[in-house]
Amino acid sequence: MGKGGKVSVLFVCLGNICRSPAGEGIFKKMLNERVLADSYHVDSAGTSGWHINELPDRRMRLHGERRGYTFDSRSRKFTPSDFEKFDYILAMDDNNYYDILALAPDVEVQKKVHRMVDFLQKLTHDHIPDPYYSGADGFELVLDLLEDACGGLLKEIESHDGK
Ligand code: 4NP
Repeated sequence: MGKGGKVSVLFVCLGNICRSPAGEGIFKKMLNERVLADSYHVDSAGTSGWHINELPDRRMRLHGERRGYTFDSRSRKFTPSDFEKFDYILAMDDNNYYDILALAPDVEVQKKVHRMVDFLQKLTHDHIPDPYYSGADGFELVLDLLEDACGGLLKEIESHDGK
């Protein structure tokens, strides 16, 4: 458990404008609905830093809004200090996963890093696909996968850290 008794969760993708802000928004809504928001600190970041301070991609926000989500975080780059601040670091694909691991100071810290797809409950996919160059279907698939995996992630965390 992180500082202040809160469980801290960081979603990470490449640009921090599509997948990880969606993961952040979906997980936060799930926490709100379960009256758990005060027990968690949730954020997202990108490995690239290509879109610093930008809002999530307009298409990601639109598809999210249709399902009742608000994705309004500002893009930032993942930094090694995130290893100290977060208990759970969720990578959207293998490139993200290995880019994050490469920045970890030791093996113990690497244990905080997980693949988001490892928490899928109903769906099967080996990564959360980058929707940036896809059509509407790609954004819908990201939301389907993240809704499923966020549910599995919350169950996993609550079984360890829940009060
Ligand atoms: P994300 O998607 O990693 O899910 O935020 C991308 C956003 C931007 C780019 C690639 C992927 N880009 O090439 O700028």
